[in-house]
Amino acid sequence: MKIGVFDSGVGGQSVVNAIQKALPEHQVIYKSDSKNVPYGNKTIDDIHKLVLPILNTLSNLGCEVIVIACNTVSTNLIEELRKEINIPLIAMEPMVKPAVKLTKTGTIAVCATPRTLSSKRYNKLKQYYAKETKVIEPDCSDWSYMIESNTIDQQKIKKLTKYVCNQGADVIVLGCTHYHWIEEDIKQIASNYATVLQPELPVIKQLKKVIAGLAA
Ligand code: DGL
Repeated sequence: MKIGVFDSGVGGQSVVNAIQKALPEHQVIYKSDSKNVPYGNKTIDDIHKLVLPILNTLSNLGCEVIVIACNTVSTNLIEELRKEINIPLIAMEPMVKPAVKLTKTGTIAVCATPRTLSSKRYNKLKQYYAKETKVIEPDCSDWSYMIESNTIDQQKIKKLTKYVCNQGADVIVLGCTHYHWIEEDIKQIASNYATVLQPELPVIKQLKKVIAGLAA
């Protein structure tokens, strides 16, 4: 089966690698938008106009399911896109629920783009699951650019990670697939203080379910 994967940029490649490892019998077709990345500071309308033709291309290439490996797109546009694209779309969103379950300090940190943090979906997740949890949203607004352009500033990552740990966060949610590339750095800095969560495994679980349904 052909599985489509979309992200604005290199974040999706990390998700592609995980899918290929877990499902080697399937073909993964990856499309990103290197011309317009990063999406995280753009308007929802602009993102919609950019992403729709790319998802149509993946569908026209014969993909039977598409993983939106982009929290920014998923949290802002998944409902509209599901109406516009007539194959299953698997979304990715910050893991607020598992983080709340895991925290012992009652404080979590969510690292994501400004557009994800301002999305209705993310704010609903917070309202629903994190009413009694303190949620720190550190400023990662230039991180996707930093990772995309391969100008990773280790000092910046260290400073921010230490800051959220000092604020009492014992779970750090990576709510942007670009940050998967610095997951190990964050884990190392936070090692004695916080657990780092990102959604590749649950997404693969969901993908397996959808594939089984399509094959039935
Ligand atoms: N990797 C994307 C995400 O998960 C988008 C990052 C960006 O383009 O700013 O949100």
